[in-house]
Amino acid sequence: MTSVNLRPISKANYKECLNLKVKSDQGHMVTNIYKSLADAYVDPNLHPFCVYDGSQRGWAPPKQPMIGFAMYQIEIGLGFILSLYIDHRFQRKGYGEATALELIRRLRLHPEVETIATSHHEKNTAVKKLFEKLGFVPWDIEWAKNVKDVEYLHLK
Ligand SMILES: CC(C)(COP(=O)(O)OP(=O)(O)OC[C@H]1O[C@@H](n2cnc3c(N)ncnc32)[C@H](O)[C@@H]1OP(=O)(O)O)[C@@H](O)C(=O)NCCC(=O)NCCS
Repeated sequence: MTSVNLRPISKANYKECLNLKVKSDQGHMVTNIYKSLADAYVDPNLHPFCVYDGSQRGWAPPKQPMIGFAMYQIEIGLGFILSLYIDHRFQRKGYGEATALELIRRLRLHPEVETIATSHHEKNTAVKKLFEKLGFVPWDIEWAKNVKDVEYLHLK
C-alpha cells in the first residue's frame, strides 16, 4: 500500500516545493503554493507540509524527490484541509489518498478539532472522488452558502 512521509517546510526544501507542478488542466482549480506558504508564514493556525514517499521516513535529507504539498488549518473547532497537491509526475499512484489519510490522522490527534472538513472547486472531480472515497459527504454549512463555485465536504 502506498504510504507517505510528511515533513515541515524548511529552508532546505522550500525551493523544491515551489517547483511542484500539477497537470496543465488542473492549475485553475488549485491554490497557489507561493500564496499558501506566505499565508502560513503569518498565520500560526496554518500547517503546511511537503510530501515524500513513505520509504523516505528516517532519511535526512531525503533520497527521493518531493511528491507533493499539503496544508491544513486548525481553528474554531475545525480541522480544515486547505491544500492537497500531488505533482503531475506522481499522480494516480495512491499518493493523494495516502496524504489525505495522513492529514486526517494528524488532525484527529488535536483535541480542539471537532469536525474535519475540506472544500474544492465544483469542477474538481478528482479531489471530490478522493474525499468521497474516504467518507467525506457534502457539508451544508451556513457560512459557506454564498461562496461561488466551491463545494464544502466534511467527514462523517
Ligand atoms: C486530486 C489529487 C490530489 C489526487 O491525487 P492522486 O495521487 O492522483 O490520487 P490517488 O492516486 O491517491 O487516487 C485516489 C482516488 O482519487 C480519485 N481520483 C484521483 N485522480 C482522479 C482523476 N483524475 N479522475 C477521477 N478520480 C480521481 C479516485 O477516486 C482515486 O481512487 P481509485 O484509484 O480507487 O479510483 C491530484 O489529482 C492533484 O494534485 N490534483 C491537483 C491539485 C488539486 O486539485 N488539489 C485539490 C484542491 S487543493
